[in-house]
Amino acid sequence: MLASAQQTTPPAQGDQTPASALRTLTPAEVAALSQGMPEGPDRELVVRVCAQCHEPQRVAALRLTREGWEGVVAKMATLGARMTDQEFARVVDYLAGNYKGEAPKPINLNTATSVELESVVALLRKESAAWIAYRTKTPCKTLDDLKKVPGVPFNKIDERRDRLVCF
Ligand code: HEC
Repeated sequence: MLASAQQTTPPAQGDQTPASALRTLTPAEVAALSQGMPEGPDRELVVRVCAQCHEPQRVAALRLTREGWEGVVAKMATLGARMTDQEFARVVDYLAGNYKGEAPKPINLNTATSVELESVVALLRKESAAWIAYRTKTPCKTLDDLKKVPGVPFNKIDERRDRLVCF
């Protein structure tokens, strides 16, 4: 009884709703929507997931690292994009494989301009000024040296460790 009821119940709304349960697109619609997107086994999946809300070609202008694409797709999931974890991985594979960007070059804290410190490290103007004044006498050798710099919140450095260097 329970088993047959489950079979006829539409899939529950939730993070694990597979893309196949979404608004169906005809093959002609999928073809039209995937124009200009590189072929690949998961192109149709990407189109089906993303076209629920906007043209999947929105990705075409972007070039991101795998991490960057994971961030975009995770953001889309919070906006309501539905896919299983496995589909999430396939979508990220497709995007990271076809719209690949270089990892951003790390920023040297000893030479970074105040604009870089503000935009990349998210320091406030007065925080970046505090660091620039400090480093003229005491440049950093490791990121942890920033822990003892007055007026510079170390958590901002710590959060962006992968993009920052001292040399
Ligand atoms: C539930 C609706 C929805 C789905 C499904 C969806 N998106 Fe979006 N997407 C949005 C909205 C809304 C925006 C604008 C958000 C903003 O500007 O903050 C957006 C913006 C974007 C942007 C512009 C950059 C950005 O971060 O704002 C990209 C790239 C993008 N989407 C890619 C995708 C990809 C790839 C998929 C499929 C995996 C997808 N979207 C699926 C709603 C959706």
